[in-house]
Amino acid sequence: MKINSRNVIFALFTSASAFTKANNSTKPNYVDYPEKSTVEEIKKRFDNDVERFSNLETGQKTTIDARINMDIVVQSANKVNPDAKKILDVGCGAGNYAIRMLEENPEIESVSLIDLSMPMLERAGERIGESSDAEVNSIQGDIREVELPNDSHDIIIAAATLHHLRSDEEWYSVYKKLFDTLKPGGSLWVFDMVEHEGKGVSEIMWENYGEYLSDLKDDKFKNYVFDYIAKEDTPQSLTYQMNMMQKVGFENIDVLHKKSCFASFGGVKPLDENHQEACISKSLNRRR
Ligand SMILES: C[S@@+](CC[C@H](N)C(=O)[O-])C[C@H]1O[C@@H](n2cnc3c(N)ncnc32)[C@H](O)[C@@H]1O
Repeated sequence: MKINSRNVIFALFTSASAFTKANNSTKPNYVDYPEKSTVEEIKKRFDNDVERFSNLETGQKTTIDARINMDIVVQSANKVNPDAKKILDVGCGAGNYAIRMLEENPEIESVSLIDLSMPMLERAGERIGESSDAEVNSIQGDIREVELPNDSHDIIIAAATLHHLRSDEEWYSVYKKLFDTLKPGGSLWVFDMVEHEGKGVSEIMWENYGEYLSDLKDDKFKNYVFDYIAKEDTPQSLTYQMNMMQKVGFENIDVLHKKSCFASFGGVKPLDENHQEACISKSLNRRR
């Protein structure tokens, strides 16, 4: 395992902050963007949560169907890109998804990790090194700011991270950046908290999620989680994100799994003509 320190980028930005009110409702009371957690606040929270995120069961305790989503994401990524050599994990945390990807495909040669939090990156690098010889490139920075090379990655995973994006411009430019850094034929897979279209369905889904949290612990815990979602997160709906993926150029966009406010989905960067011809002759050669 090699952490490439030349690739460690410090690209943090700050914005205004304020505090949210206590929440006892069936739905997080979102605060406006200027009142949301700053990048620095989000970074600090995750700097102090490395232990929890070093284990899928504890790290994703407050998400629904974490294991099912991880399994279907990893299986789909490896089915679509079985010859993948270079993968990127955006908001890698302590590396749960990257480790699982390497278990599924030990032929992967290099893993790029992006995260705001240096302690998360360090832990992810250590954990990957314990079970794999893949090269690890760690990039500390905000996915909105980090520069990535074009046509470079076979697979990108973004798990429980993109819900920190705020404006339409940010969502568009991040999806475009992820599209551009994929090789033609490469794929992007997202697992995340999602909002819903329209008040009615949205209320039902948040109520379901609230019940899940209360059952997991109690109503106090549910209110605690809803309060930090209100303060920190700005999830978008599946429809919004899949439309955005289509807009930047993805094809074969599909939902893998969805329950309540959590979903996994993905899409593929189309092959250009040269790559299409190369793939056809490769598969003909395989059949001979
Ligand atoms: C909820 S954790 C998920 C970690 C990991 N993907 C997993 O599933 O175990 C979210 C991670 O995304 C990182 N993160 C949040 N916003 C980010 C941003 N704008 N750019 C890069 N990383 C970000 C956090 O520091 C944190 O480590």
